[in-house]
Amino acid sequence: MSDSVNENEKFLRERSADIQAMGRDESLRAKSIEWMITADKYKYTYNFTWMGRPIIKFPNDMIAQQEIVWRTKPDLIIETGIAHGGSIIFSASLLELIGNGHVIGVDIDIRQHNRTEIENHPMAKRITMIEGGSTDTAVFARVKDLAKSAKSVMVILDSNHSHQHVYDELALYADLVTVGNYCILPDTFIEFFPKGYYSADRAWDVGNNPWTAMRQFMASRSDFELDPTPVAKTMITESFDGYLKRIR
Ligand SMILES: C[S@@+](CC[C@H](N)C(=O)[O-])C[C@H]1O[C@@H](n2cnc3c(N)ncnc32)[C@H](O)[C@@H]1O
Repeated sequence: MSDSVNENEKFLRERSADIQAMGRDESLRAKSIEWMITADKYKYTYNFTWMGRPIIKFPNDMIAQQEIVWRTKPDLIIETGIAHGGSIIFSASLLELIGNGHVIGVDIDIRQHNRTEIENHPMAKRITMIEGGSTDTAVFARVKDLAKSAKSVMVILDSNHSHQHVYDELALYADLVTVGNYCILPDTFIEFFPKGYYSADRAWDVGNNPWTAMRQFMASRSDFELDPTPVAKTMITESFDGYLKRIR
C-alpha cells in the first residue's frame, strides 16, 4: 500500500472518531435544533439556489448527499417533491460530474414556470419529470418501469411530509433502493420542533411527520438500517435519523 493511501486512511479514521463523538454530543444536538428553529423564523431553508434554481435544503444536507452519491454512484436517483427544481438539478449535476446516471422527479403540481426553467436547464438531459401524486398507482408504475434497468438506485422522499403519506411512499419506493444505496428522508426534523409549530398551515406536526413514518417503517424491515454518520457530521440537518441504508 502506498504512503498516500496510508495517509488518507489515517486522516479518515481520525475524522471518524471525532464525527462519532459529535453524534453522541447531546448538548451540540440541542443547540443545533435551537439554531434551526431560530433560523426558520427567516425561512432559512429557502435561502439557497443550485445552478440558478431555488433548492429547499440546508447546504449541509446537500454535502451529505454529495458524499453518498460519490460513494454509491447511483445510475438512478428518484425524488418525490420537485418544487422549483433545485434539488433534482442538484442530483442531476452530481451525476453529470460522475458522467453517468439519471434523475426521475415526481410532483403532484409542477408549476409551468418551474417546468419551463427545468426543461431549459443544462441538466435537463439527465432529468425526467412525472406529474402526479407520488403514491398514485399509475405514477408509481411509471417510475418502476423507468427504474427496471437501473443497477444502483437512490430514493429521496421530499413531497407531503405527513406520517401516512411518507409511510405510503416508503412502502412503495423503498423496494426500488438497491443494496448499498440509500433512501433519504428530509424533514424528519419536524419531530424535534415545538408541537404546533407547523400544524396551523400544514398536515404535519410532532408525532405526525417523516420521522414517525421512518420509525414505523424501520420496525417492520430488516433490510434497511439507519446510517448515523451523515447526521453526526452535519448536525444542522433536516434529516435526523433520515439516512436509511439498504443492507440486504
Ligand atoms: C418541500 S417541496 C420539495 C422541495 C424540493 N425537493 C427541494 O429540495 O427543493 C414539496 C413538494 O412536494 C409536492 N407534493 C406535495 N404532495 C405531493 C404528493 N402527494 N405527491 C407528489 N408531490 C407532492 C409539492 O407540490 C411540492 O412541490
